[in-house]
Amino acid sequence: MAVGRLVGYRRLSVSTELSTQWWRDAVIYQVYPRSFADADGDGIGDLPGITARLSHLAELGADAVWLSPFYPSPQADAGYDVSDYRDVDPLFGRLSDFDAMVARAHELGLRVIVDLVPNHTSDEHLWFQAALAAGPGSPERDRYVFRDEPNDWGSMFGGSAWSQVEDGQWYLHLFDAKQPDLNWDNPEVRAEFADVLRFWLDRGVDGFRVDVAHGLVKRWEPPSDEVAAPPPAVPDGPEPMWDQEGVHDIYRSWREIVDEYPGERILVAEAWVDPIERMARYVRPDEMHQAFNFAYLLAPWSAGDIREVIGSSIAACREVGAPTTWVLSNHDVVRHPSRFGYADGTLPRNGIAAGDPQPDEALGLRRGRAATVLMLALPGVAYLYQGEELGLPEHTTLPDDARQDPTWARSGHAVAGRDGCRVPVPWTAGGPSYGFGPGERSWLPQPPAWDRYALDGQRGVTGSTYELYREALRVRRAYGLGAGTLAWWEEAGPDVVGFRNGDVLVVANTGAEPVQLPVGARVLLASGELDPQGRVPADTTVWVLA
Ligand code: GLC
Repeated sequence: MAVGRLVGYRRLSVSTELSTQWWRDAVIYQVYPRSFADADGDGIGDLPGITARLSHLAELGADAVWLSPFYPSPQADAGYDVSDYRDVDPLFGRLSDFDAMVARAHELGLRVIVDLVPNHTSDEHLWFQAALAAGPGSPERDRYVFRDEPNDWGSMFGGSAWSQVEDGQWYLHLFDAKQPDLNWDNPEVRAEFADVLRFWLDRGVDGFRVDVAHGLVKRWEPPSDEVAAPPPAVPDGPEPMWDQEGVHDIYRSWREIVDEYPGERILVAEAWVDPIERMARYVRPDEMHQAFNFAYLLAPWSAGDIREVIGSSIAACREVGAPTTWVLSNHDVVRHPSRFGYADGTLPRNGIAAGDPQPDEALGLRRGRAATVLMLALPGVAYLYQGEELGLPEHTTLPDDARQDPTWARSGHAVAGRDGCRVPVPWTAGGPSYGFGPGERSWLPQPPAWDRYALDGQRGVTGSTYELYREALRVRRAYGLGAGTLAWWEEAGPDVVGFRNGDVLVVANTGAEPVQLPVGARVLLASGELDPQGRVPADTTVWVLA
């Protein structure tokens, strides 16, 4: 993808680009709009704020930006509860701000991926309001999943997945009660989303990250007096609400739509399915382009586990001709420096509360940097989550009354939830809201000691996490690592992830003993200092020419 930055997007988006397949080795930076940059000072990030800061992504060396939802929404799940799929929430700006953001991104050579939330709407969406008004048995209700009796399915956020409406019927919501699931057996639902895709494609987006891609189609048990249908040729996933065979027809039809547009527009699956071979079924040649590799994200900081998941991911994706993707952090999980900050191997995923055992910040940062340098050397696509280039940890001591993730309330305060990874980004040391907005307001409180993570204190500072990321992306590009191939390094001991990617030897040490590099090795990049004997110490990754 080196050419993207050099020749500029506009030239790339004409015919020659069709063969570049930028999405096979790109670095994609996730912006969480609420928390990136706040231009109007209301304490919530917005599109003009993003536009003003897009040059940060270009300077870092990213190829594309993926934005979490900015659509009109009551914000019951931070915008993943959409009430209008064809507009911008006034919190974030207007459609014209969106257009300006896309234009600026393209000017900078960045592609733009938006979030599409097809599994459920908001309960304040016109369709759901119409369904409530129209009553049982109506076509309006058939766009959702209404039943006279609930079953035993649970919500991902805790509690039952069913809520009752006034006339006694129940509706399904695999997430919050304000996120009713759509009925994808209804042709109107399918037509609507085909049209929503075109709406954003026409506005110039380069792709969609498809939320809960494994959830759209459900398997309903036949009533007991009916004969069960014969088992399908390809078995569905074992859980009736996830990974059903029917979802793939939907993605085939969407692939046809995105392929009608020039410039290699893409579909990315958020599909929490395992084993990884099931995930690979979402990226067969006529379906989506990429799927998030959550198996990689979930792996502990341990060489054996990491080698295993790298090997199986590459094999599964190769089988279907898709690029492998790699990700360590996003808006749904504990930030990776904090996840890896437990010497005893604890691996928290769904939030850390003040009363929980706390991560060791220095250990976490050291491992977090090593994990990133390892990830960015892998062939395929890398996803970064805003703030990780600053080494940001999770906010682990958020006051309980500040928490907004529905998980917190629905779990009866048993699960801290995802707010700790969504805290607004510190751009400048000192000052109110660390430069997130013009004033003090910040929709989640920022920790008192985040001055040391602010961008302005790291830019140009050798050894800072920001400069490490920037250099990693530069070298990754210069050596074509994203488009390379991996060959395991035979000399690697059990605590080492070692591989060659083209000319570059990558050595990540997850153990306690220092690792000897080949004689004459020339260091290209290191996540931390080598020891006085030139060996790779614990929790450190290096890229060398050897
Ligand atoms: C996805 C999103 C998450 C959201 C959920 C429901 O997992 O990443 O943030 O809560 O879907 O839309």
